[in-house]
Amino acid sequence: MIKFEDVSFTYQQHTPYEYKALNLITTQFEQGKYYAIIGKTGSGKSTLIQHFNGLLKPSRGELQVLDVQITRKTKDKVLQKIRKRIGMVFQFPESQLFEQTVEHEILFGPKNYGLDLNKARQRAVMLLEQLGFDAEKVMQQSPFLLSGGQMRKVALVAILAMEPDVLVLDEPTAGLDPKSKRQVMQLFKEIQDKEKKTVILVTHDMNDVALYADEVKVMKQGRVISSQTPEELFSDKEYVQLLHLDLPDIVQLQRDVEARLDMRFERLAMTEVEFVKMYEVWRQQHER
Ligand SMILES: Nc1ncnc2c1ncn2[C@@H]1O[C@H](COP(=O)(O)OP(=O)(O)O)[C@@H](O)[C@H]1O
Ligand SMILES: [Mg+2]
Repeated sequence: MIKFEDVSFTYQQHTPYEYKALNLITTQFEQGKYYAIIGKTGSGKSTLIQHFNGLLKPSRGELQVLDVQITRKTKDKVLQKIRKRIGMVFQFPESQLFEQTVEHEILFGPKNYGLDLNKARQRAVMLLEQLGFDAEKVMQQSPFLLSGGQMRKVALVAILAMEPDVLVLDEPTAGLDPKSKRQVMQLFKEIQDKEKKTVILVTHDMNDVALYADEVKVMKQGRVISSQTPEELFSDKEYVQLLHLDLPDIVQLQRDVEARLDMRFERLAMTEVEFVKMYEVWRQQHER
């Protein structure tokens, strides 16, 4: 549903400052899956995702987003169609709040795109409650009187209220307290799982990759250098070392258990539940 073909992007092209941030990227994203994009700072993650809704257009190559073809010549008018279907959450979205009440803030997008306001409002109320707010109360408040974490949640709800088909998240939990982080990460997972939406998460947190992603794309120097399941990625010890990746806690735990018991599990579990099951199976076999 999203397909990059030989996409390159150069900032400040034809100036002395030009910088090639994406270099011949060919990759795709299927509907309904949860993707993680990882890679060092400066590897091109944010540049890549800004192509999903045409905020940036490729300097070379083309991409297909839903039913729209985007090249360097695509007109903004054509992009309107996809903008309401791709929910983009940039880093620190709370910095873009500007309305007088949370309600206005949340309904700004839906109004702008001509969506059903009652429906959007209902959905927002549900989401706000799920994130721990007294929804009707907070709707009437000024977003600027909220805490940083609360502002972040409101900014997220403003995007989610539009029910985008694809949710693109650029480090959405950076700086959030642990409880808020868990709440929003669980919400994104539910949206993908129950509503069959596509989620694309840019993150530095390997625990999130292990816990949530179906597929993880690694970026390096403007290229997507691999695309595989988290289990495949974290099982590849040499590759993990080469990329200087941290191991997710759950993987580290398994490695510690293996070392202590001088054994090797057949697979690598990505969640605690999976790991406990695997361990139980091993123990039963071992006790006989
Ligand atoms: N507006 C810009 N003008 C010039 N260079 C930029 C601009 N934005 C990003 N870059 C450069 O492009 C490269 C990729 O940036 P970015 O996509 O933000 O990487 P990431 O999100 O992986 O940290 C970096 O080297 C960055 O300095
Ligand atoms: Mg970035």
